[in-house]
Amino acid sequence: MATAFAPGKCILFGEHAVVYGHPAVAVAIDQGVQVSLTNSKNWTIDGHSFSHSRHPHISHIINDLFKYKGSPLNIEIKSDLFSAAGLGSSAALSNAMGAALHYFLNKDEDLNLIKLAKIAHSAEAIAQGGRASPTDTAASALGGCIVVSGKEVEGTINVFKTSLDTPEGERNWVINKVIIPPESEDIYLILGFTGDASPTGNMVQGVANLLKSNPDKINVMDSISKITLAGLSALSAGNFEAVGIAMNACHSKLQDLEVSTHSLDRLVDAVRPYSLGAKMTGAGGGGCIVALSRNPQRVAEEIEIAGGSPLISKLGSNGVRIV
Ligand code: MEV
Repeated sequence: MATAFAPGKCILFGEHAVVYGHPAVAVAIDQGVQVSLTNSKNWTIDGHSFSHSRHPHISHIINDLFKYKGSPLNIEIKSDLFSAAGLGSSAALSNAMGAALHYFLNKDEDLNLIKLAKIAHSAEAIAQGGRASPTDTAASALGGCIVVSGKEVEGTINVFKTSLDTPEGERNWVINKVIIPPESEDIYLILGFTGDASPTGNMVQGVANLLKSNPDKINVMDSISKITLAGLSALSAGNFEAVGIAMNACHSKLQDLEVSTHSLDRLVDAVRPYSLGAKMTGAGGGGCIVALSRNPQRVAEEIEIAGGSPLISKLGSNGVRIV
């Protein structure tokens, strides 16, 4: 038996722009996905027969990346993330699956987190029509706070580089870590799920279509990039009031990219009076908002009153682990 847990993630700044090489800042959250593997007579997943077409991520990891030729496995998945909600549930699943399979095959060999993040990124790219940044997979593998960018980012610790052939050509990213200052101890992230699932691949495709039909929108990407760097300096300095202001600004640019929705905007408006800042997080079109606050219970209540479902997390949880 082998069991691994991988956290979900929350993007504080830079979603969508990161697909085009701009920086994004993401943190691992307390909630995530756990995968357990046991030997079995037939391939099964959560007690049902395993179908490669229904689980392309998992199938790609088992067959193409690990080239697994062993006996059939029973795969058990437990998750406390909302799925298709911008919290990186598919990246967490890929990481937990990769980590569990690694441990199942090589109990004595340490898990290489960079290799794992790359394996999971490859699985994400397949599921997202060839356009996926390594943000979700790297945040979930490494934990803490990461910055993903097309180039080096001052004031961060470089961890690894990666690239992907996308329909728009080759993209290259640098993955960096940021140390969150100790002043963050009383600061929480409160996620609010609208209840509307929204597959990332469709939203990423929608933005690609918008840029094609309206090339001026590329300026929005440049603005998101500037906001992201301002938010990052504020975060590194422990200036959470300024982090919140940058989150608010980022939300309005994501509205310009037409990825926010009425439900997301309603939740953002409901929590702002009790938050340092709030924005949609992830691909949008549904999914979640994130608020930064010293009063997480109050924000969670406001999310519920406005019809959403809250989750509370500290700012930057640990990365993937064998359990
Ligand atoms: C999804 O969590 C974030 C996006 O930027 C897509 C990606 O980075 O692959 C929308």
